Amino acid sequence: MRPLAAIVDLSAIAHNYAVAKRCAPGRQAFAVVKADAYGHGVREVVTALHDIADGFAVACLEEAAEVRAMHGEARILLLEGCFEASEYAIAAQLGLDLVVQSAAQAQALIASDVSRPLNVWLKLDSGMHRLGFGSAELRLWHARLQDAGQVAELNLISHFACADERGHSLTELQVERFLDLLDLDFNQRSLANSAAVLTMPATHMDWLRPGIMLYGATPFAELSARELGLKPAMTLAARVIAIHDVAVGDSVGYGAAWVAQRVSRIATVSCGYADGYPRNAPSGTPVLIDGQHAPLAGRVSMDMLTVDVTDLPGVALDSAVELWGSHLPVDEVAKACGTIGYELLSKVTARVPRRYVG
Ligand SMILES: Cc1ncc(COP(=O)(O)O)c(C=O)c1O
Repeated sequence: MRPLAAIVDLSAIAHNYAVAKRCAPGRQAFAVVKADAYGHGVREVVTALHDIADGFAVACLEEAAEVRAMHGEARILLLEGCFEASEYAIAAQLGLDLVVQSAAQAQALIASDVSRPLNVWLKLDSGMHRLGFGSAELRLWHARLQDAGQVAELNLISHFACADERGHSLTELQVERFLDLLDLDFNQRSLANSAAVLTMPATHMDWLRPGIMLYGATPFAELSARELGLKPAMTLAARVIAIHDVAVGDSVGYGAAWVAQRVSRIATVSCGYADGYPRNAPSGTPVLIDGQHAPLAGRVSMDMLTVDVTDLPGVALDSAVELWGSHLPVDEVAKACGTIGYELLSKVTARVPRRYVG
């Protein structure tokens, strides 16, 4: 068997959910499990949080149906709302909480024939300009939907563009715009993603929406997951499958992009870009072998990557490799690659077996 697996610690996810709840006593929290629970496996994550989470949030109806199949009662929030008219009836059957983010969606909702009213979350575009109504338009739709037969609760939701950069002026403006609407009668309010859950109590409202923090990665550039009390959930674990001694001037890998400046030992590792390890990871990106840091050397191949282990004489065939995880934060690898932990976690491909512990 190819020595590569994503080992997912479900107790870490439960711990991280509890951290979110502790940040905001008395509030409820949708565990954001879209994109296959950020690559961790939605079935297992929902099962692990079954008796703990107040609800779950997903990106589309297909994801919502998968969560509903595993959890009969939980509130399930459809973050982007419905994409087609036929989806409203299904959303009602599934008993979903529905974001309504545009006039087109609002019209489709009131034109739909649903078996039972839905909890509707009117989305305010408070400054991100991705989804949502402007304040004036939201007031209009609040009035129109208040007595619509398709609507049970009428709620308010918005999303931050820059909560991960602490003190950003846009965040303040977004909060102001959200608060300005609270003269309207809403049943529930939701604003906080992980960054806001962790550092902005004034944004906690009624329902939190923690995503990345559940998986033990940080939303911040300058605050680590460990400092935030989060436990990494996924360890991408491989092994050394070959060792080569190379002479000064010898190159390693595609494009001969890495050239030995000294007599070197190169370990070949069973993980490549077809597994989700980023191909653009530069030489020097940290890799953990036998618990010690070593630098990536040369280009990442489809199924393998190479590491300079010259300074780790104990490394041998079958040595354990951690690409990221409990001892090497995914955020550190992401930073070296010019991306964020979210992307690395959610892009681990289907061919990598997930193994569950905890
Ligand atoms: C609308 C919405 N709420 C909450 C989240 C969770 O954000 P985070 O993973 O930063 O906690 C996301 C994630 O992209 C989102 O799109």
